[in-house]
Amino acid sequence: MSRTLGPRPEHRAEAELRPLYKAHYRFQFLSAGFRSGLFTLLAAHPGLTRAEIAKRLEMDEQPTRVLLLGCTVAGLVSKDGDGYFITAISEPLAADVTDLPGAFVPFEHHLTYRAMSWFYESLKENTNVGLRRELPGDADTLYGRLAGHAELETTFHHMMGSVSRSVAADLARKLDLSGCRHLLDVGGGTAVNAIALARRWPHLEITIADLPTVVEAAGARIAEAGLESRVRAVGLDVFNDELPGGCDGVIFAHFLEIWSVDRNRMLLAKAARALEGGARVFILTPVQDDDETGPELAAYLSAYFQTIASGEGMVYTAGEYEQWLAEAGFDPAGRFYVGGLGDILVSGVRRTTAS
Ligand SMILES: C[S@@+](CC[C@H](N)C(=O)[O-])C[C@H]1O[C@@H](n2cnc3c(N)ncnc32)[C@H](O)[C@@H]1O
Repeated sequence: MSRTLGPRPEHRAEAELRPLYKAHYRFQFLSAGFRSGLFTLLAAHPGLTRAEIAKRLEMDEQPTRVLLLGCTVAGLVSKDGDGYFITAISEPLAADVTDLPGAFVPFEHHLTYRAMSWFYESLKENTNVGLRRELPGDADTLYGRLAGHAELETTFHHMMGSVSRSVAADLARKLDLSGCRHLLDVGGGTAVNAIALARRWPHLEITIADLPTVVEAAGARIAEAGLESRVRAVGLDVFNDELPGGCDGVIFAHFLEIWSVDRNRMLLAKAARALEGGARVFILTPVQDDDETGPELAAYLSAYFQTIASGEGMVYTAGEYEQWLAEAGFDPAGRFYVGGLGDILVSGVRRTTAS
């Protein structure tokens, strides 16, 4: 009698949809592998057996077997004989957890995973139901609520800092600030962009404007970089306060996509009021394709803004930004890609007389 089962039968429609409706399992394999230290362990000790892994992770052997099966199926570990190995996909996860792509795992696990299950309700009610249901607090946005959750705020800024670092070096290389004396960095976060730009342009002063709880962390980063004489951070709410004066350039980096069309128009009008003719405004942002068919990251981010971050933003097209710039009194002055995540930089020059 044959001991093989022959070809495995397959329900085609089920198999095609499965990666979508089982996607949450794949994330749990990734997250548990990451949190348990499995990837770091296998990077340091390739070829460990299941029993050795169980002992090192301080887990019983059967749950370890469940974890290893999941991680193997997800391509996060490979098995050769009795030994387990890290793969090209999981190898970066054995490195610094505050850097890309590792910083995304705790961010997705602690901040977005449960909240995203309210996606449909967030669409129907046109607000961020996910945030309201999953993160205690009174503020309407994730950023406001994070102020009451220090650990989560750190997790968020590790993720955001890792994204910013991955584009900041390219931004500093490509953005010509030779004609700018004092740049205002609205929603500048923990100063990753400001530090890269200040290092590239030694004449440049930068003022970061962000929420008061974030300004403290920004100040520490600026001091670490030894840039206190040229870079400072001020606490404000950009929707309730006017922008600080005395600047001849404004940058909105990873900021406008958080907000609605109306608020973006209002923010660009505010920037126009703070600037004189000839001054420049810069928008660093992910973008949606003009034909609204992608890319994938734009779809994820848009769902995140709707369900969690603000309940009102999404990833817009480059053309929309240029239209809002023109309406606010800026002449669009070009666009180019920055970094490797599909961000673009759109610039505008303040018209001398607003029209
Ligand atoms: C997505 S992060 C971008 C950080 C930084 N610009 C970057 O590119 O890495 C958005 C930032 O906007 C800040 N923010 C949110 N709401 C704000 C408000 N009403 N006024 C000022 N800053 C705000 C957040 O604290 C956060 O640092």
